[in-house]
Amino acid sequence: MENGPPSDPVLRLSGICKSFGATEANRDIDLDVFAGEIHAILGENGAGKSTLMSILAGRYRPDRGTIHLKGRPVHFANPAQALAAGIGMVYQRFMLVESLTVTENILLGLGRGRLRLDMARAEGEIREFAGRYDLQIDPSQTVSRLSMGERQRVEILKLLYRRAQILIFDEPTAVLSPPEIETLFGILRRLRDLGHTILFITHKLEEVMTLATRISILRRGEMVGSFAAGQVRSRRELARRMVGREVLLEVERPAVTRGETVYAVRDLTVQDAAGRPLFEDVALSVRRGEILALTGVAGNGQGPLTAALAGLLPDVSGQVEFLGRTWAASRWPRAPRGGMVYIPEDRHATASVPELSLVDNFLLTRLGRYRRGPLLALSQARRETVRALAAFDVRAPAGPDTTARQLSGGNLQKFVLSRELAGRPALIIAEQPTSGLDIGATEEVWQTLLAQRRHAAVLLVSGDLREVLSLADRVAVMFRGRIIETVSARDPRQAARVGLLMAGIRD
Ligand SMILES: Nc1ncnc2c1ncn2[C@@H]1O[C@H](COP(=O)(O)OP(=O)(O)OP(=O)(O)O)[C@@H](O)[C@H]1O
Ligand SMILES: [Mg+2]
Repeated sequence: MENGPPSDPVLRLSGICKSFGATEANRDIDLDVFAGEIHAILGENGAGKSTLMSILAGRYRPDRGTIHLKGRPVHFANPAQALAAGIGMVYQRFMLVESLTVTENILLGLGRGRLRLDMARAEGEIREFAGRYDLQIDPSQTVSRLSMGERQRVEILKLLYRRAQILIFDEPTAVLSPPEIETLFGILRRLRDLGHTILFITHKLEEVMTLATRISILRRGEMVGSFAAGQVRSRRELARRMVGREVLLEVERPAVTRGETVYAVRDLTVQDAAGRPLFEDVALSVRRGEILALTGVAGNGQGPLTAALAGLLPDVSGQVEFLGRTWAASRWPRAPRGGMVYIPEDRHATASVPELSLVDNFLLTRLGRYRRGPLLALSQARRETVRALAAFDVRAPAGPDTTARQLSGGNLQKFVLSRELAGRPALIIAEQPTSGLDIGATEEVWQTLLAQRRHAAVLLVSGDLREVLSLADRVAVMFRGRIIETVSARDPRQAARVGLLMAGIRD
C-alpha cells in the first residue's frame, strides 16, 4: 500500500454495526488507527461519525463487530471502562458542572472517598499536568467563568488525569474562535509528540489539511476509506472524496439592489451585575438587500450584543429602530418583532426541545400562524414541516415524527434554519449559522442567506472569517465590547484587514 503505515494498529475496528430503530448509523465499518497519529474522521451530516466514535469511547455498544486494542479484543459496557483501557472522548457538548471548580470537575466521578483531603494534592497534580501539556488553566477557577476554549481544556485535562492514551474529539473547533483554534492545534500536536493518539471529527477541510496525518471518510453509515493525509493535495480533492462529487466551495453573489434601512441601533450599552460594560456605544444599521456581518474573537461582547439585538436582553440603554418604528432599547424585548427571525447559536438549548417531534418543534416559534380558535391547524403544520425538511434535505429517520434528539447535530441545525426562514422575514439575525454543518449544507445555507437578502436585511454573527468574507457586504468588527470599525467586505484591501481588526490592531 502506498504510504502504508509501518506498524500494527493500536486500535482495530472490524465490522462495526449500529442501528437506532430503522436507521443504520454504522454499517460494517472497518477502521485501523495507528499509534501517534492525528486521525481525522470526515463525512456529511448524519454519516455516522459521532456514533462510531461514541462506540469507541464506550457510550454506545455496537450491535455487531469487534474492537481490538493493541491486538486484544475489548468490550466496553460504559465510558468508564473505555477510559480505564485508555480511550477518552471530548464530546460536542461539554459535560462540566458549571458551579464547580476545574479541580472538582476533574475529580468528579473518580469515586474517591476522602475528596476534601485529596483536593489540595489533586490540585497540585492537575497544575503539573496542565503545565506539562501546556494547557494554561487555573485549577482553582470556577468553570462558569471559563471561555469555551478553557472549558475544552478542562475536558482534555479530565481525560489526561485518568491516563487516557487515545483521545477522541467530536468537532472540537466548532465552538472556538480562530486564536483558540490555533491554541488547540498546538495542544493536539503536543499530545501527539508526547505519545498520545488523536482522533478528531471535523467539517472544516482546512483543519484536516493542516493537522491530520491520516484521514478516514464515512458516507451514509459506511466507511469510504482511509488514507495518508499526504495523498490529498487540496481541499477540493478532499471534498470530492467526501461527498462523492465535485463541490464548488465557493458561492456566487447575485447582484441585489439595496432597499430601505430595516434595522438600526444607536448607543447600545449594557453592564453586567458588577457594573462592567458587556458592550458599549454600539451603533449599526442594515438595509434590505444587504448582509452585515458582526464578527470578532469570542468573548468580545458579540454574544450579549446579539442577544440584545434579538430583543432577549433586559436593561439595555440606547435606541432600536425596526421597520420604521423607534424604541428605547429597554423596551425592545417587549416590542412586537413580527418580521424578525433569530437563529441562535445554541440550537440545543434555545432553538429546539429534544423530546418533542419535529412537528411540535416546528410549531414552537410559529404557533401564532396556526392558531384557529382553540385548535391548531395540525395537518397544515405537518405539511409545512415536511416541506421544511425537504427544503434543506434534513435527514430525519421518521420524517416529521422524528424527535429533535434523534437528529444528528448538523441536521438539527438545518431544521432550525428551515423553520425560521419559512416565513419570509424582513430581518434575519443568524448566529453562527453553519457551525457543525458539512460542506454541502454550508453551501446551501450560504446560498440561502444570499437569496434571502433579496427581500430581507441579514445580520450575520460569525467568527468564521471565510464565512464572513464570502457572504457579507460590510463587516463590523468587535473588540473589547465595541465595534472598532466597519469595513467593506467587497473591497479586497479592507477585507484583508478584518483578521487584524479582530485582534484589536487598527492599521
Ligand atoms: N440517539 C439516537 N437515536 C436515534 N437516532 C440516532 C441517534 N443518534 C444518532 N442517530 C442517527 O444516526 C445517524 C448518524 O448520526 P451521527 O450523530 O453519528 O452522525 P454524524 O456523522 O456525527 O453527523 P453530524 O456531522 O451532523 O454530527 C443519523 O441519521 C442520526 O439521525
Ligand atoms: Mg456528530
